[in-house]
Amino acid sequence: MPDPTLDTTAPAKIILFGEHAVVYGEPAIAVPVASLQASAVIQPSEDGFKIIAHDLDAAIVRYDPQLIREPLQRTLTLLQQHTGQSLPDVEIHLRSSIPMASGLGSGAAISTALARAVTQAMGTPLSNETLNNIIFEVEKIHHGTPSGIDNTVIVYEQPIYYVRNCPIERLKIGHPFKLIIGDTGKKALTHVAVGDVRALMESQPEQTQQHISAIGEITVAARADIERGRIHDLGHLMHENHRLLKELTVSSPELDRFVDGALAAGAIGAKMSGGGRGGNMIALVDEQHSEAVMQALKRAGAVNLIETLVY
Ligand code: PMV
Repeated sequence: MPDPTLDTTAPAKIILFGEHAVVYGEPAIAVPVASLQASAVIQPSEDGFKIIAHDLDAAIVRYDPQLIREPLQRTLTLLQQHTGQSLPDVEIHLRSSIPMASGLGSGAAISTALARAVTQAMGTPLSNETLNNIIFEVEKIHHGTPSGIDNTVIVYEQPIYYVRNCPIERLKIGHPFKLIIGDTGKKALTHVAVGDVRALMESQPEQTQQHISAIGEITVAARADIERGRIHDLGHLMHENHRLLKELTVSSPELDRFVDGALAAGAIGAKMSGGGRGGNMIALVDEQHSEAVMQALKRAGAVNLIETLVY
């Protein structure tokens, strides 16, 4: 009988402040989105290790160490290297309700759920610190030079104030607040936007650095407001952060339209989130305006809306 304790999960994530600037050493704030999850269920297997990827038409994935640019394979290779063990004779059923390629960390969450399942089945569960290092390596396949914020929030499942190469700081939430995540439905590759900001940094270093530093200051101020529960003060910080990301060329007409629509419908604040050029935006709302903001985002063309409470 499979041991039900071997089922593992990992949440989605969303960045609240500091995306892109975090690549240059500025802080960023991100939180888990618990309503969206990747999960792995372990069952005994009669024909060796295999993964059943239910969101890819139940495709059966066998281990192939040659496929070094494939995230699941890379995860399996790193786990075996780290534990010194070969893969156990189990089948792992992988599922995810997290939309892909839209800045919600779907890849990192799937790899995290898989890694937890495999190492539990091996009898060698990993510490969050070790797991985080492994998922960071996997993230490099897609993101090139990731800051590490995605894997950190997903592995630790906590709101985080993140500075590259610094110890992880848990963010205290002074007062719970509600976010609506609006999906433009436009897929965008984070590493392309990150590369374009890097090109901007080379062609216009002074101005770009000013924008990056200003985003860092906003994130520091946002941390203080979040920790003290001053939720209404976050509105203008989100507005400013969005404006600066626009200057860095990583917003898009859709994202701008969503942000304007959410604000006109009474959101406390709104901004794009993650790599940009598409993907998701977030609106900070109070109960009174929540429904109106959702309707406004639908009218603006949102293909998916997720409500999440940050606490
Ligand atoms: O697109 P997302 O949500 O995976 O976020 C990327 C965040 C960036 O700051 C743009 C890049 C990074 O590695 O931190």
